Amino acid sequence: MKSIAKNNHVGKVSRISGSVVFATGFEILAKNTIVRIGRDQILGEVVQILDDTLVIQSYEETDGVRVGDFVHNTNEPYYATLGPGLLGKMVDGLQRPMESLADLQGAFLKKGTLVDPFDHSLEFEFHPLVNIGDKIPESGEFGYVMEKKFKHPIMLPPLLGGGKVKWIAEKGWYNADDRIVEFEDGRKFGFYHKWEIRKPRKVKARMRVDKPFITGQRVLDSFFPIAKGGTSIVSGGFGTGKTVLEQAIAKHSRVDIIVLVLIGERGNEVASVLSEFAELTDEDGNPLMDRTVIIVNTSNMPVAARESSIFLGMTIGEYYRDLGLDVAVLADSMSRWAEAVREISGRLEEMPVEEGYPSYMPKNFGEFFERAGNFLLMTEKEASLTFIAAISPQGGDFTEPVTQAALRVTGGFWALNTELARSRHFPSVDWRQSYSLYGELISTALQNEYPKWGSIRSDLLLILKQEEELEQNVRLLGRDSLSEEQKAVLDMARFIKLTFMQQDSFDEIDQDSSIGKQYLMLQTLHLIWKYVLSEIRKGRTSRGVFEEKDIVTLSRIREVPETNLVKYDEWITMLTSKIEVNEP
Ligand SMILES: Nc1ncnc2c1ncn2[C@@H]1O[C@H](COP(=O)(O)OP(=O)(O)OP(=O)(O)O)[C@@H](O)[C@H]1O
Ligand SMILES: [Mg+2]
Repeated sequence: MKSIAKNNHVGKVSRISGSVVFATGFEILAKNTIVRIGRDQILGEVVQILDDTLVIQSYEETDGVRVGDFVHNTNEPYYATLGPGLLGKMVDGLQRPMESLADLQGAFLKKGTLVDPFDHSLEFEFHPLVNIGDKIPESGEFGYVMEKKFKHPIMLPPLLGGGKVKWIAEKGWYNADDRIVEFEDGRKFGFYHKWEIRKPRKVKARMRVDKPFITGQRVLDSFFPIAKGGTSIVSGGFGTGKTVLEQAIAKHSRVDIIVLVLIGERGNEVASVLSEFAELTDEDGNPLMDRTVIIVNTSNMPVAARESSIFLGMTIGEYYRDLGLDVAVLADSMSRWAEAVREISGRLEEMPVEEGYPSYMPKNFGEFFERAGNFLLMTEKEASLTFIAAISPQGGDFTEPVTQAALRVTGGFWALNTELARSRHFPSVDWRQSYSLYGELISTALQNEYPKWGSIRSDLLLILKQEEELEQNVRLLGRDSLSEEQKAVLDMARFIKLTFMQQDSFDEIDQDSSIGKQYLMLQTLHLIWKYVLSEIRKGRTSRGVFEEKDIVTLSRIREVPETNLVKYDEWITMLTSKIEVNEP
């Protein structure tokens, strides 16, 4: 022990419990530092200190580790390496690039390898924006490069203050090893800097969230919308469509950057996501991958690296936000992270609160969700980070601890329903349980361009709500116990579900709806409802009206392509004149 104590960075393994390793003999005991364990130098992080013992969460399999093996503490936290070149990349939870699908199928990097996240042969053309003698403020920009289609500012790392420029690189091509700017105080900076993944990046101020986050998914955007900088969870039992919905959001959301964190998914599922993404392009024909960063921790990768994956994803998201871009971080599934926390807590023999989860889980969730928001950046630009997480409660039971912990901190709740999924109503978003705290705010934001948005939305939501109550009566007394107008509520609710709320993610046209198309569809539905009511007042039956040829035709309103939105104007005119005949 004596000889070890001389080197305050080195200790020895005293106990191993799955992915948790206990080590003693260190002089310095600090939390959240990265250690290397045993002969393979496998990577781990200090998650707790118990008296003189470091409790280490290993990021890699500990099968080769023995009691008495050396443990080397780097005394540094886990940093993400940030700079141009992340877009279009797939990395694991330790930011090691995964070049091919083979990496996913199990042919992993050798244990203990810390690969440089950046390809040093990768060069970017730097455009200086400052001159010698200029003062750059904290987090200030001193030039830019082009990364894919984005102008990617090169900034000073946060928290390091500013400086006076002594030397600046000329316009030209540089890589990760080149210095780009030098200050009079001797400090030098290049394209890249490191940032501790658990620490939110510094901003000037948090701002109100007030712009809609458009996903292209009608039931979300129109009925349960969230704001840019908001948070939401997609919670649902096995096979209810969480992954398909998150992928749809990743593909179609109107934001600049998507960070997709895939945790605990099967390798082949991830592989299919990737090959699909590789083929897709955005509206301007750019590959979808060009705005996407993927962090992968498949189910056969160590559980402990799930936590680093999600924090890494958030940190990369914050980095692109700091450049002034609107970012969405999507996690699938957050339950896998919670399970990892539970497993480690269990190995530490901590007192569980509910279903084995530790008491600090809700607080950890809260702090993590707090990293989303709309911000005034250090550069005075405004940018948002939206966070959406899939949660997989056992048996679709939303009272379970992970869903409940998330519900305390999230602004949106998209509840996926097993019955709906079984009857192939997709996305299986349950309108009775889902909610959004941003609903009113988004209606106000859309008011200018879409004046009737708010009132139509509430009218249609009311129909869905009334249907729920009437269904009770129908169950007890049958449909015939209802008035004709009540029957119409049921028929209209069904019509809204079939023509608007259902959306096929695998259909070329249906998979994405612009907000303009959604508004036209909402208006059409609203006029149908008015027409139905006016016909019933004339004495017709609800069934009769819904079976009318014109209305049957309108049951296909979702099939209209974005290039032919005038079609809705024709229908709106047709319906308006039908109503006018009734109510001149
Ligand atoms: N919007 C949709 N359009 C058409 N089909 C869908 C849609 N959403 C889900 N599905 C169908 O449901 C199946 C299961 O979806 P998905 O894999 O997303 O479920 P999940 O909730 O992620 O499951 P797991 O619990 O295994 O993670 C899909 O393979 C697809 O057939
Ligand atoms: Mg899934």
